[in-house]
Amino acid sequence: MYYDHNPKFPEGFFWGASSAAWQVEGGVAEGGRTPAIIDLNSKKKKPFADNTIAADHYHHYKEDVALMAECGFTSYRFSLSWSRIIPGPDRKVSEEGLAFYNNLINELVANHITPIVTLYHYDMPLWVDEKYGGWHDRAIIDEFEYYCKVCFENFGDRVKYWLSINEQNMQIVYGDWLGVSKGCTNWFVEQWQINHIMNLCHAKAVIACHEMVEGGKIGPVPGYVPIYPETCRPEDQIGAMNAEEFTEKIWCDTYAYGEYSNFVKNYWKNNNIDPKIQPGDMELLKAAKIDFIAVNCYRSNTGKFAPKDAEAGAYILNASGIKGNLKFPTVPGIYALTVNPYVEYTDWDWEIDPSSIRYACRYLWDHYHLPLVITENGFGAHEQKDAEGKVHDDYRINFLRNTIYQLGLAIEDGVEIFGYNPWSFTDLLSTGNGMAKRYGLVYIDTTDEEQVAADYDLSKLSMGRIRKDSFYWYSKLIRSNGQDWGTDMSGYQK
Ligand code: BG6
Repeated sequence: MYYDHNPKFPEGFFWGASSAAWQVEGGVAEGGRTPAIIDLNSKKKKPFADNTIAADHYHHYKEDVALMAECGFTSYRFSLSWSRIIPGPDRKVSEEGLAFYNNLINELVANHITPIVTLYHYDMPLWVDEKYGGWHDRAIIDEFEYYCKVCFENFGDRVKYWLSINEQNMQIVYGDWLGVSKGCTNWFVEQWQINHIMNLCHAKAVIACHEMVEGGKIGPVPGYVPIYPETCRPEDQIGAMNAEEFTEKIWCDTYAYGEYSNFVKNYWKNNNIDPKIQPGDMELLKAAKIDFIAVNCYRSNTGKFAPKDAEAGAYILNASGIKGNLKFPTVPGIYALTVNPYVEYTDWDWEIDPSSIRYACRYLWDHYHLPLVITENGFGAHEQKDAEGKVHDDYRINFLRNTIYQLGLAIEDGVEIFGYNPWSFTDLLSTGNGMAKRYGLVYIDTTDEEQVAADYDLSKLSMGRIRKDSFYWYSKLIRSNGQDWGTDMSGYQK
């Protein structure tokens, strides 16, 4: 669809950015916080730094919120650390933990920035893992519900937008990467049992939010990577559809309709998988009516047919002149992901595809007719300060400009979208590449090497905040409610 004007964004559109507690806060042993499983996981990603310090937002939150306000933010999406709020199995709520988040929320509200809060972003407390063996035990449902209720009770007077579980789909699809498969002996089957427990946790959060938070709205946060078919061969189309099902659609269907699709039920039946659904579970899922879908979308993937005797697992792409260390999975008989020769790739081999966000929004709207908010999107790169201490990130400006334009086109296409919160405001810890893979509008003056060499002694590190060029560009766009692109966009639409 071609429009003879630049896209328009609705009045009151949320312009902000996004983060997650374990990736931005640091202060892991302060304020009574106890370790989370992801802390241990981050220590395995050597030579990169772990999350001990990250961006040290724990000590810099006031300065960070002041910078958000300077940029013109009207929203900020962040997560709460469960083990900062409930540090141990006695379920005692930490006053210091609550105080940290109360201060942060108050600072945001005072600066007219709407908080959008994720309840769970990969950081299961170690005590929960030790008590229940991670997500395996249904007892975690009650523990999670208790934690959510503590959050709603303490923050619900000021926080009206809630997100349940970040990228449940990616946690299942990439179980090892985020540590969810820890302790599993038969992941092929157990992933669906864990997934079912996560769905029940999500449902409890949705119901409690509606009961406890006046005017509260809540939604899930799928990681959504559109899958394009590699060719127009019919079997590649089906391969791409399969990939879409097995990486995202199965999850979105359950959130939106409160039931499992025939597609996944048949898959379980044909593969002798028992997801261990108990009486009452499906009624609970059905009762959890979400208000919106929060979308994390950075890129697209390309899918194709995978014969049933294809070699399973990941393979390495280095054909076609592409940088070549990204691993794409092959699932025999179902789908394979592959290279897209029509897009460029980032330093970290992610597809640079601004149209993916328009595709994602159109797809989700067409299937579910629920409002959408973008809670992650962004450009990860190696970055350094120049001799004058500045960071020039034209590539990020290009990416954000083209992506936000495409988001605007999705709005013109009729999709209801109420905000854009790219990853991330400041640089922060990547899931696997420490501080080396930077996404921020604001540079954090630290490196993995420095943090490791200083033995995580904060007093030896600068941790200064430096506005990147993208910060200034985004600020102008926000203040014009998406009209000042910083360049002539006529001719952008083809
Ligand atoms: C999202 C996650 O999928 O991708 C974030 O919700 C993550 O936690 C982001 O940081 C970027 O991924 P990475 O691996 O580059 O940090």
